[in-house]
Amino acid sequence: MMRRLPDIAGGIPRRGASVLVLGLVALFVAGAVWGQEDTRCLDCHGKPGFKKVLPSGRTLDLFVEPTLLRLSVHKDKHCVDCHADVNEVPHKEIPQKVNCRKCHYQGNTEGAPQTGRYLEFDNSVHGKALKAGNPKAPACQDCHGDHFILPGSDPRSNVSRSNIPQVCGGCHLQIYGQYRESIHGKAMASGVKDAPVCTDCHGEHTIARPEDRTSSVNPGRVANTCAKCHAKVVIMKKYGINSEQVATYEESFHGIANEFGVLKAANCASCHTAHDILPPDDPRSTVNPKNIPKTCGKCHPGANANFAKGRIHIDAKDPSAGIVYWVALGFKVLTVSTLLGLFLHIGLDLFRQIRTRKEKDGGNGKTGEERS
Ligand code: HEC
Ligand code: HEC
Ligand code: HEC
Ligand code: HEC
Ligand code: HEC
Ligand code: HEC
Ligand code: HEC
Ligand code: HEC
Ligand code: HEC
Repeated sequence: MMRRLPDIAGGIPRRGASVLVLGLVALFVAGAVWGQEDTRCLDCHGKPGFKKVLPSGRTLDLFVEPTLLRLSVHKDKHCVDCHADVNEVPHKEIPQKVNCRKCHYQGNTEGAPQTGRYLEFDNSVHGKALKAGNPKAPACQDCHGDHFILPGSDPRSNVSRSNIPQVCGGCHLQIYGQYRESIHGKAMASGVKDAPVCTDCHGEHTIARPEDRTSSVNPGRVANTCAKCHAKVVIMKKYGINSEQVATYEESFHGIANEFGVLKAANCASCHTAHDILPPDDPRSTVNPKNIPKTCGKCHPGANANFAKGRIHIDAKDPSAGIVYWVALGFKVLTVSTLLGLFLHIGLDLFRQIRTRKEKDGGNGKTGEERS
């Protein structure tokens, strides 16, 4: 074995040349065949304006811009790699919907990313709906697009953050309308990169119903989801927004109840809504003083304007919190003095015990155990 090694190595330059020639020929042939494969389709589908009028009167655009495919992540792919059922030209049957799963699965040998996200998608509300045969549920291409698929980091991608609201909004129309008018939607539209889009709150391949315990928008987890931004001083100070809201909520009655699993207690979205969020000084905001009775009244029947008198996000450590500050301070004083009293009591008691023991020990020089 060892002796043959130099032999093989020596053969490389000579044989390399013929391999190169063969390779070039193969590449040329393959290129021509592949090119032909695609041109076969593009003979019809590459003609601008190629379309079909459906019996319903709607026109189906059948023109495909091949350069888009070449600029996408699938630049090395050919028409039939995706449209795998088109095996004759012209084709008689109407091609089936593309199955992206042909290549996109964990452990694939096609070079598609290896990621647990495919499985995550199957367990999402969309994946389950798709499996159950809901024709309105999104398949991969409904979010990612067809011929111009790009990574989310590319601003031209369907799934780039700034395009996400439109993609989700295409099916969730009413929510899209609300979101667009909200402080978050307006901020995103005006280029504020820190503002949340649908996927910041809902996840991407992990989207679940709010009732689902694992959902990022489950009542028990909403505060954590808002906290991703609202508890961060570096983000919030840019917009002049107080970043104590999360902490004050967690210390509030609602926050503590929620922590203990009382999910009917108010979470951020119960008061602020999920998609209609507006600053408190906007008269349309659910947390504007004018609307407070209605907002609290959902759960506290008969709540009037006085019910929420003062501020909701009360920082008990701040004297401007008024009565709450004094009550909290009172509690603190009471707690500290009670504890001090307790320590004093224990200390005195210990002192007394040691003294009595010393007195007894001083008497016979032995402990009680040795005596018995
Ligand atoms: C002779 C022209 C012609 C050629 C060549 C051709 N097609 Fe088509 N293709 C059509 C027509 C016409 C339709 C519309 C079919 C219908 O709806 O009845 C169509 C429809 C399609 C559709 C489905 C559109 C939809 O959503 O209903 C796909 C996908 C497609 N072709 C892919 C291909 C591929 C891939 C090739 C090459 C392997 C190819 N075609 C070659 C004429 C052609
Ligand atoms: C990465 C996979 C992929 C490749 C490669 C691909 N397609 Fe498609 N194509 C799709 C998807 C996804 C759709 C949307 C319909 C669907 O879901 O099946 C589509 C739709 C179409 C349609 C219907 C009209 C339209 O634009 O919606 C035609 C025609 C078509 N493709 C032809 C082609 C031709 C011709 C090529 C080669 C130049 C090609 N496709 C390459 C994925 C692909
Ligand atoms: C014939 C195999 C094949 C099919 C079918 C296919 N893909 Fe891919 N896909 C790949 C390969 C290979 C890559 C990796 C490309 C690279 O990294 O250069 C990829 C990459 C991707 C990426 C990665 C972008 C990123 O973040 O890097 C997305 C998203 C994607 N494909 C979506 C789809 C969708 C949606 C469909 C169905 C319309 C589809 N693919 C169909 C092979 C395929
Ligand atoms: C509801 C919309 C939606 C659906 C449906 C969807 N995706 Fe995604 N997908 C996203 C978003 C959003 C991202 C994140 C984009 C980013 O920022 O990178 C993503 C990311 C990806 C990535 C890149 C992530 C990585 O780890 O490399 C791949 C690959 C991918 N999706 C493939 C698929 C496939 C395959 C399907 C179908 C089984 C699918 N997606 C269905 C929205 C969707
Ligand atoms: C192609 C249409 C389509 C697209 C695109 C789409 N969805 Fe959905 N979505 C649905 C359908 C249909 C359901 C209902 C599934 C069911 O009830 O079984 C659903 C359900 C949901 C649910 C659960 C609703 C509930 O009542 O519990 C959430 C949350 C959701 N989608 C968020 C999103 C987000 C975020 C995006 C974008 C990343 C998105 N969807 C993109 C069609 C879509
Ligand atoms: C700031 C966080 C946030 C953003 C951004 C957001 N959502 Fe939601 N979404 C929630 C919360 C929290 C819920 C839970 C239900 C509730 O409290 O109303 C929810 C519920 C939902 C539901 C199911 C319940 C319903 O009302 O039908 C859907 C569907 C949905 N969102 C889609 C979207 C879409 C689409 C977008 C983007 C246009 C989006 N969401 C943006 C936080 C958000
Ligand atoms: C991805 C980060 C992010 C997430 C997640 C997020 N927000 Fe925001 N939020 C912002 C930014 C940034 C602004 C400031 C926008 C501006 O003023 O241009 C804002 C503004 C607000 C405002 C208006 C404050 C004011 O006085 O102007 C409220 C109220 C609010 N968010 C509540 C919430 C709630 C409730 C949640 C969770 C359901 C949430 N946000 C989730 C980033 C986020
Ligand atoms: C019980 C109802 C209620 C709950 C629960 C609640 N808020 Fe508020 N929030 C309000 C009210 C009322 C205001 C306006 C008055 C004030 O600032 O106290 C407000 C104000 C805000 C503001 C604006 C502060 C500013 O500087 O302009 C933000 C941001 C905010 N809340 C975020 C949150 C977040 C994040 C959560 C969850 C961790 C949450 N809120 C939970 C009722 C609530
Ligand atoms: C989503 C429902 C919900 C909303 C909205 C809500 N609360 Fe509550 N709140 C509860 C629950 C549940 C409790 C637990 C005690 C109970 O059952 O009364 C509670 C307890 C309280 C308590 C302490 C216990 C008590 O009864 O004195 C106060 C104070 C309170 N809420 C004020 C408010 C104010 C002010 C608002 C509006 C800004 C509000 N809540 C909005 C559900 C809600």
